[in-house]
Amino acid sequence: MPRHLTSLLDLSTIELMSVLDTAADLKARYKVGDRPQLFPGRVLAQLFEKPSLRTRNSFEAAMVNLGGGGIFLTTAEAGLNGRESLHDVATVLSSYSDIITMRTFSHTLIEQFAALSSCPVINALSDDRHPCQALTDLMTLREVFGELAGLHIVFVGDGNNVAISLATACAMTGMKFTLAVPAGFELSAAFLSDLKARYPDSDVSQTGDPHEAVATANVIYTDVWASMGQEEEAERRIKAFTGFQVNRELTKSAPAEAKFMHDLPAKRGLEVTDEVIDGDQSIVFLQAENRMHLARGLFTWMLSADS
Ligand code: CP
Ligand code: NVA
Repeated sequence: MPRHLTSLLDLSTIELMSVLDTAADLKARYKVGDRPQLFPGRVLAQLFEKPSLRTRNSFEAAMVNLGGGGIFLTTAEAGLNGRESLHDVATVLSSYSDIITMRTFSHTLIEQFAALSSCPVINALSDDRHPCQALTDLMTLREVFGELAGLHIVFVGDGNNVAISLATACAMTGMKFTLAVPAGFELSAAFLSDLKARYPDSDVSQTGDPHEAVATANVIYTDVWASMGQEEEAERRIKAFTGFQVNRELTKSAPAEAKFMHDLPAKRGLEVTDEVIDGDQSIVFLQAENRMHLARGLFTWMLSADS
């Protein structure tokens, strides 16, 4: 049975750290011009029903850099619009592929596809999870801070797919996670209790006061207030998130050395101001760059484990 990555919970903490080590090692080699062709002829198939700049292209670049190649198709092109059954699409596409990445609205669709696939399936974002973003964020935090354990990550914004995966990543690696969130947009009680049961020493909490939350932050993180698929709620959300913008006034409540992170794409002027995202403390483009290095590490880890 192939190993999949539909959620970070598919990995143990030891495995997660091994992916990060592999990615960091490959990045260091890449920076001195060493791009080992570890997987010549391997095929990455990407099946997306939402747009993507970073995820799609960093995954494809990663596989090309490792000696393989990629094919891309929308879920509609694949026939998941009723043309064929999920069983038949998953069976056929996985017979051509060494890894499949999927970006979907429904998280369950990725899990169902993975259960039918003969090759590993990686979640490239669903409405509920974004594990590869969280892995990249861990890689970036290790690069910037050295150690993960003990860091305090304060996510100011929606309790969305990115927040869920980042909270999970923090619980798995000994980081404190606080979500500063308006009422109605919190992490669910079911998610929080499941995480606590799996990681009893974890420190994941939420508050309605962003200024208090950032007072001890090593990192202030935010994401869009309306995710893909929530466009019709955008106006309502802009009103609801008043007071939750990451701006100069909020960062004044944080330690002077606190870093700023965002998975991107950003809605500048909504969840974050230009002066913060373009400021000295911002590491958003390091995060974006690291998407490719993390993908190289993840593919290498998965294909080595799978072969
Ligand atoms: N952060 C991220 O997943 O970006 P894309 O939507 O561009 O892939
Ligand atoms: N929460 C955002 C993340 C985009 C990378 C969305 O789902 O649209």
